[in-house]
Amino acid sequence: MEITRAIDETHFLPSYLSITQRALQLLEDEAVEIHHLAEVIGTEQSLTAKFLRLVNSANFGMRSPVEKIDTALVYLGLIETRNTLLAMSMYSLMHGGLGHDVWGNSLLTAFLAELIARKGSTRVDAHRAYLAGLLCDIGTIFLESKFPEEYFEVRLKTGAGIDLLDAEFQVFGYDHAIVGEMLIRKWKLPTEISEGILYHHSPEETASPMAWILAFVNQVIQSKGEPSGIDEGARIRIGLKPEVVQALYDSALLKMVEMEHWLARIVPSGS
Ligand SMILES: [Fe+2]
Repeated sequence: MEITRAIDETHFLPSYLSITQRALQLLEDEAVEIHHLAEVIGTEQSLTAKFLRLVNSANFGMRSPVEKIDTALVYLGLIETRNTLLAMSMYSLMHGGLGHDVWGNSLLTAFLAELIARKGSTRVDAHRAYLAGLLCDIGTIFLESKFPEEYFEVRLKTGAGIDLLDAEFQVFGYDHAIVGEMLIRKWKLPTEISEGILYHHSPEETASPMAWILAFVNQVIQSKGEPSGIDEGARIRIGLKPEVVQALYDSALLKMVEMEHWLARIVPSGS
């Protein structure tokens, strides 16, 4: 299985990922000025059009339609700009061939990872946690869209009770955590993110707090925030009380639904 060659050759993410990367670098600086960000986003016409459409459809109370990207970003604010930028990239990608479940789950993972980074005691940057959450299962998405027949075999194996990572390894010689890490490295995103993704199913093997957060998020999603379904040791390591976990899950779920609703209006399927 030529996974490494497929990764080398991939033009997998939408063309504006490079713009997203540059914008993210700017957003890492808390003192970033909106007009710098607008300059970067403004270099990609289709992205600019989507931002304008988003702001004009969101009823921020403007008297006339917003026509300039820097004005649109002022209305959105930095956090929403970043969330939207990333979500747009992923949305376009996933609607190219994958179902709603994968997309919704990635978005929920992103929002939860961000909230947990913000409220817990791991000292992980919340922006990075969002990005890591969004890309956490990018390896699965890559394998499933590039090698659908082989991935169907993986599904058959997991249906027969084999662990997902084991099934992927049996079919591909790699699992989605390893593939995800390779992709993140290729895209030159921070090591903190690639490490977190590499160990998101085996956090006990690493000292990376990002991996602990991602693994914890998986548990929280599986238990729908219910504290009894979450490993206590993992929760204590993250530094959250049980009642807070449920509240964060509910809040992330709401954010996910809102974001999906927004994006469904501004980004036509497959664009
Ligand atoms: Fe995973």
